[in-house]
Amino acid sequence: MSNTLPHLTGIEDLDKEEIISLLDRAQSYADKLEKGNWKSDLLKDKVILQLFFEASTRTRISFEMAAKRLGASVINWNAESSSMKKDESFLDTIQTLGAMRPDAVVIRHAEYNAPYFVSTQMECPVINAGDSYHEHPSQALLDALTIRQAKGKIEGLTVTICGDVAHSRVANSNMMLLDKLGAKLRVIAPYELMPENFPVAKGEVKTFSSLEEGLPGSDIVMVLRIQKERMESSLIPDTTQYFRSFGLTPDRLDLAGLEALVMHPGPMNRGVEISDDMADHPTRCLVKKQVANGIPTRMAILDRAFSKK
Ligand code: NCD
Repeated sequence: MSNTLPHLTGIEDLDKEEIISLLDRAQSYADKLEKGNWKSDLLKDKVILQLFFEASTRTRISFEMAAKRLGASVINWNAESSSMKKDESFLDTIQTLGAMRPDAVVIRHAEYNAPYFVSTQMECPVINAGDSYHEHPSQALLDALTIRQAKGKIEGLTVTICGDVAHSRVANSNMMLLDKLGAKLRVIAPYELMPENFPVAKGEVKTFSSLEEGLPGSDIVMVLRIQKERMESSLIPDTTQYFRSFGLTPDRLDLAGLEALVMHPGPMNRGVEISDDMADHPTRCLVKKQVANGIPTRMAILDRAFSKK
């Protein structure tokens, strides 16, 4: 029905030029927001429907903030209080909501490719806010914006992703984006959390089973939570032992180099993948910057949804 619309179902569908154009647009919104809280009426005639079938703090609020900063109205639909609780099927629910003719849909879902499926049922742009362990394009874009601001570039940087890469949509989308933009990728994970394949076409991903081996020479270290909800049984039963081997601390970050910076998409599990003093580090941890960049990045994504020819 609607796949010529400017959906954003994944980084996979974007080429390097489209990614750079989104990042430039996001940076121009970031500059405007930097000067004080800025609001426009660009999307004042738009109503955006947010469908979150999975829990979210950052992503849902950040899309809503972005939409409202551009003047749009936002409706938050919630699976818990919907007719799906009365056994309505997913397809009927989606078709019912589509019949109300929202101007755009932002969706998070536990099923792989659900946003793509929804895009085939809606006559408006559909934006993926995270599906299963597949893609989380807005997170990868806000991470890229954060790296570009902190390091001045992406091409040629060594970005090391640590932790539960096998179950992470954040890692997947980030690897695709960073590969398209010419970064060098490494993954550090225990055997149980290491993916079998990597979604990269240009470069390669170097894999390591310890921080000591994988960190030296990294410009950016991205740390990930263990995604217990996406495992059939707990692959990491002992989180204290996991922290001893894979928990990032300021001392361990020094192994990467004194200029290396830390990122985490949140939610952080302190004492599991990251220590308190690393998570709260005033200069080497970019987590709050990532959260702040979520808003201009999602403004750019919404702007694209309504402006692409
Ligand atoms: C992540 C997600 O939901 O994919 N969080 C986020 O959106 N910032 C990562 C996670 O849940 O671990």
